[in-house]
Amino acid sequence: MKLIIDTECKTLVKEENGESVALDLYSKESFELISHQWLKVGWNAKYPYVFSWMGRPIIQIPEDIIRIQEVIYRVKPDVIIECGVAHGGALILYASLCKAMGKGRVIGVDIEIRPHNRKALEAHELFPLITLIEGDSSAPEIVNQVKSLVRPGETVMVLLDSKHTKEHVLGELNAYHDLITPGSYIVAMDGSMRDLYDVPRGKAEWIWDNPAEAAIEFASVHPEFVIEQPAWPFNESDLTEAITHWPDAWLRRVR
Ligand SMILES: C[S@@+](CC[C@H](N)C(=O)[O-])C[C@H]1O[C@@H](n2cnc3c(N)ncnc32)[C@H](O)[C@@H]1O
Repeated sequence: MKLIIDTECKTLVKEENGESVALDLYSKESFELISHQWLKVGWNAKYPYVFSWMGRPIIQIPEDIIRIQEVIYRVKPDVIIECGVAHGGALILYASLCKAMGKGRVIGVDIEIRPHNRKALEAHELFPLITLIEGDSSAPEIVNQVKSLVRPGETVMVLLDSKHTKEHVLGELNAYHDLITPGSYIVAMDGSMRDLYDVPRGKAEWIWDNPAEAAIEFASVHPEFVIEQPAWPFNESDLTEAITHWPDAWLRRVR
């Protein structure tokens, strides 16, 4: 596909399969096409690797950070579980929301919590709200350890941001979905890999081997979950599509 931005004619020309379409550059459709490409170019430039939350690096883009804040504030879970901690910025984000809401705590699971990351997290003022577990997020003993920290009747949200193969994410979905309470979510992050297969830092197999494929397969055999982009609490535009690295990620438990 070719996209030609013509700022003089105020058009976005899209050329694909021998067809050429000139769109109004300032239309919703142009914004979405440019944004989709921006996500790919930005990912290759490591744009998700330039942010922090209250002192800890968070490997997400601002829109995804804002969207998860909207959902956490709406659902107000008792427990937020994140698989894939890295530097811990997302754990701190969730803990900061729990602190501000006066409700909730956070469990982080990672196969390797590096000593400098553990030290920084343990020294953080929000650490009292956080439990760290080191191990493979899909290993039965780790899953059991996480589940032992959840009390009956608690509202739970699970965020999957560890190993991003379809197989691993499917394993996590199968292992943790029974914790999710109706109205809450299990989120298979980074499904944008399916669009990143052809960027310089991407891999060809990502076109099928990605978290979105896992979420779609999981939802096809779990009718108690639906994949849907969470509603935006505020929208004074005509826009409807999130500019996100988490397409087909949000699995909401409907019953
Ligand atoms: C993309 S990073 C997580 C980023 C973090 N959630 C954030 O928002 O800043 C992925 C993390 O998953 C961890 N990981 C990889 N394989 C794993 C596995 N099998 N189980 C648990 N964690 C794993 C890696 O060690 C790495 O720290």
